[in-house]
Amino acid sequence: MKKLRLGLIGTCCRGKLADLAHNVENGVEIVAGADIYEDQRKSFVERYKKEFNYDVKAYADYREMIEKENLDGVFIITPDFLHEEMACYALEHKVPVYLEKPIAISLEGADHILRTAKDNKTRLMIGHNMRYMAFTNKMREIIQSGIIGEVKAIWCRHFVSYGGDAYYRDWHADRANTGSLLLQKGAHDIDIIHWLANSYTTKVNGLGALTTYGNVPRRPKGQEKIDGLTIMEFWKKENYPVDVVKDYYPTVNNEDLNMINMQLANGIQASYLQCHFTPDSCRNYTVIGTKGRIENYGDYCKDVTIQLWDRRTDTFNLNGDVTYRIPDNSHQVHGGADPNIVNSFVEMLRGNVVPASTPQGARYAVAAGILGAQSIRSGGMPFDIPPLPEDLENYDFSLNKK
Ligand SMILES: NC(=O)c1ccc[n+]([C@@H]2O[C@H](COP(=O)([O-])OP(=O)(O)OC[C@H]3O[C@@H](n4cnc5c(N)ncnc54)[C@H](O)[C@@H]3O)[C@@H](O)[C@H]2O)c1
Repeated sequence: MKKLRLGLIGTCCRGKLADLAHNVENGVEIVAGADIYEDQRKSFVERYKKEFNYDVKAYADYREMIEKENLDGVFIITPDFLHEEMACYALEHKVPVYLEKPIAISLEGADHILRTAKDNKTRLMIGHNMRYMAFTNKMREIIQSGIIGEVKAIWCRHFVSYGGDAYYRDWHADRANTGSLLLQKGAHDIDIIHWLANSYTTKVNGLGALTTYGNVPRRPKGQEKIDGLTIMEFWKKENYPVDVVKDYYPTVNNEDLNMINMQLANGIQASYLQCHFTPDSCRNYTVIGTKGRIENYGDYCKDVTIQLWDRRTDTFNLNGDVTYRIPDNSHQVHGGADPNIVNSFVEMLRGNVVPASTPQGARYAVAAGILGAQSIRSGGMPFDIPPLPEDLENYDFSLNKK
């Protein structure tokens, strides 16, 4: 089996995802990483030495790494506003890409990435790891079995308890870096709505506001980076309610409540509601068909169930007519989705699989997120989603279709 030489851009925090690929015996080696911060490069080199007894190279400039390392693939796990530039650079140099979600912060950026991958005949995969979670797969399986009839509506409520720490204390808080938190965080759920529906949004509108983090105490301009602290060190359960924290990001302008409605090409009506200051954390989907309804209780925590109601009553029963139990994967990162998606990338590079997460899906998720935010900022005006050009719509970015 050919050895795969992989690189990593953005070595800290979510960048540790790439560690899941590193397996010398399996012929997959993270040989180098690039990061603009010296402290991150140092801790990347030390991490690989300590955990794998392996010597990685570290670069300050990702371009230099791509040009010198003769890579078979690269993980791009950097802030969202860098995705387009970095992905296109790698693809133009014929290096296959694993790019974290959201694919880009503009529709033009997303389409540019897809076009560059196709023009260069180079593989591209996007990090929509929710397509690799057990509960989303079970919901999809139930829908596809036909037991709830023809799906007409999908609604998702998203409670983000860690919103203050994860999204209002660093670059995420500023729409210049993310577009919106509807896009940044909701890209996952919009993608899952599309995946469950087997369709894409064609029209979106929304309402929302910056209701809670607008007047919180912030660090002064010039102190964008909290030096010496990793994100996990400033995520604390005690940071609740939001006014306990006194050093939010210098620029806060992203909405903390987002609500959008979506009409899908196949007629399904959907909605996504997101809040960044709840005490608890969960994504809760309900799918309503002509013969029944399903809903997940819990997502990738312990004791997750999917409830199915398919007998009419005139009251509410907490337990459905059927209960599906999801195996407990809560000890694994994102309920096991991360090792699964990384494995899918490696197997795509080896020519063995067409990944469940597609660049087209990532683009349509971003499209609904971007135009949904535009609607929120235009008083709820509806926007039509432009379709992808036909050649990109039907292209196999894994290059593995038999
Ligand atoms: N799929 C998921 O479940 C999931 C979870 C978390 C984050 N993410 C995504 O991962 C990406 C990174 O998020 P994060 O929280 O780790 O961000 P972060 O800011 O904490 O870390 C990004 C890394 O990129 C580095 N970096 C910044 N600018 C760079 C540059 N110009 N060149 C090279 N390196 C640079 C930083 O030093 C850091 O090591 C985001 O796009 C986010 O949406 C996905």
